[in-house]
Formats: sequence, structure tokens, C-alpha cells
Amino acid sequence: MKALITAGGRGTRLRPITYTTNKHLIPLGNKPMIWYAIEKVVAAGISDIGININPEETEIQKTVGDGSRWGAQITYIKQTGGPQGLAHIIKVAEKFLDGDSFLFYLGDNIVLADLKSLIRRFERGKLDCLLALSHVQDPERFGVPVFENGKLVRVDEKPENPASNFAVTGIYVYSPAVMKAVHAIKPSARGELEISDAHTYLLQHGSRVGYQEITGWWKDTGKPFDILEGNSLILDQLTGQDIQGEISPETVIEGTVRIGKGARITGASVLRGPLVVGEQSILHNAYIAPYTSIGNNVSITNAEVDHSIILDGVSINTNKHIVDSIIGNNAQVTDVTLTRPSGHKLIVGSNSSVEI
Ligand code: G1P
Repeated sequence: MKALITAGGRGTRLRPITYTTNKHLIPLGNKPMIWYAIEKVVAAGISDIGININPEETEIQKTVGDGSRWGAQITYIKQTGGPQGLAHIIKVAEKFLDGDSFLFYLGDNIVLADLKSLIRRFERGKLDCLLALSHVQDPERFGVPVFENGKLVRVDEKPENPASNFAVTGIYVYSPAVMKAVHAIKPSARGELEISDAHTYLLQHGSRVGYQEITGWWKDTGKPFDILEGNSLILDQLTGQDIQGEISPETVIEGTVRIGKGARITGASVLRGPLVVGEQSILHNAYIAPYTSIGNNVSITNAEVDHSIILDGVSINTNKHIVDSIIGNNAQVTDVTLTRPSGHKLIVGSNSSVEI
């Protein structure tokens, strides 16, 4: 079996971060999001992996490489013609898939469960398609399965009035029968070849479609708060301290904390895990609260940072409490009292969001 992982698209709901960073490279627990997808696929026993990328992409290839880090082999597949829907991605990958069954994994989905049981279920049931479902509060954001008399009959894409409280997650297993479906369907009202329409096609044309509820955590990281939640989930999985930097005697460390090489924690700082601090970062008199990821070469003085993601090269010097925040590479946050006139001086990129 092969795997096809998606890493393209524009990530518009995650602007401004995605102006400069592919959404799939946003770090969670200081590791690019797509690495978790690759780890899951490899743990399920698959090593022949195709990754769908935007035609102009270069960063994904640099960050992921040829797959040898995971003992896998990675083929990059350019989505020519721009984003045209998930079913289009399967069409574009037809040559790579070469008539094999495959696991289709949306690279912005984070899941705790082991995917082996999905593959076993697919193989034992001799299925053409296996959908992984998750119980959600907001099914209207997703593909939603429709059941009639307990039987799956259709999948509606982002319906206004969802027929069930389940989302079809971005983890699917297919036989080559899916090719016929992705070639047969027509673009939806939003101009995309919807994966949900391919599923409905399979259901209505006699293919064997099964489903399985995912137990445990599943997250589609479409919006900023989803990214913060994804980060928390990943940090929750950390076990054991790993402290490589220098820590002043006055610093208090509680819970699971990872501190990278060359980092320095000085003054009376308090670090309450789970949290990670990257390499060469300097924290002085700072309070870092649980579920915070701090990247490399970050400087934090006096501030309290709570349930946030601070990317590389950020400098924070303020007495304020920063919460539920994502701060992009090399951004600076300083105390209002450090310069005159007083007042909130904002140089904020397009589509940023600031609460003052
Ligand atoms: C896509 C699919 C949707 C699915 C979701 C899972 O939506 O179109 O059917 O439920 O992924 O993550 P998108 O994230 O592109 O809005």
C-alpha cells in the first residue's frame, strides 16, 4: 500500500502566518506539522509516500527531504493548475499511485490513533473506500456522512444543516476504484472537485464503502485556534524532561519541559510544562505557562507567555501576559513604556489579528 499526503493549498484562514510559511510547516511542539503526518503513515507500515505540493513549493522539500529520516521514500507531486479540490489531488497523483491501494492523509490533520487498525479493516472487508469518522461539535465545517436506516448513503460537503454529528476526517483508505470516481465527478459550486462527491459517487455506483470512528483526538488545523489546540495535544504527548540549555539557580521548572541546546534561562523565570523551548533561546525573568512552544533564537524578557506558539527569532520584552497567541518569525513585541509617545504602536501585516 502507498500513501498520499497533502501539503499544498494556500492556508488562507491562517494568514498572516501562511504568507511566508506553508501551513504544513507551522511547528507544533517545535516540529513541522507535516512530520506528524509522515510519522503516522510510517507507523502504519507504509514507506512509499507521495506528497502533493503547490507547483512553486521549495520549503516542503527542504524540510522533509527524501524520507530517509523515517526510512521511507518520498515522491513530490506538483499540483499543476493550482488548488482544485482534494479529488483533483488524487487525479494528479494517478501515475504515482499506479493502480495500488493507498492511504490518503490530509497533511493538516492531527490524530492520536494508530492508523494500522483502519488499514486492517479496509483489507479484511475488501473495501474500495474506508472513511475515518470523528464525532464533532461543528459538522458544518466538514464532509458529513448521511445515514439512512443505519446505512451510509451519501457524504455532504460542508452542509448548512448537517445530517449527523460526524465529520469525515481527512484520513481515507482507497482501492484503485476511487480513480473512476475522481474522474467522473464535476466541480462543486465553489469550483472544486470535492472528495465528498467522490465518496457519494462510490456509494451510488456499487463500491464497497466502509467507515470507522476514530477513537481519541482528531483535529483539522484550519484556523488559528485549531493550531493552538494541535500544539497542546502534541505537548501533552511529551514524556520526560530534556534540558540541554543553561538554567539559572533561581529558575523554577515544573512539569514536562524540553529545552534545546544553547538556550539560557536566566533570572527568576518560571517554566510550567508541558512546554518546549528551542535552541539558542534566551528567557529572562519570564513565566512560561503550560502548552507553549517557543522556537529557536527567541528572546523573552519579563513577559508571561501562556498557551501560545512563538516562532523563531521572536523578541518579546514586556511585563504583559500573552495568551492564546501565535507570533510569527522575527516579530517583536515590546513594552509600551520603553519608547515615547506612549500608546500601542502597531506595525502589523495584512490579515493579522491583534487584541489590545
Ligand atoms: C476537507 C474536506 C472535508 C473533510 C476535511 C477534513 O475540508 O473537504 O470533507 O471533512 O477536509 O479535514 P477542508 O479542510 O479542505 O475545508
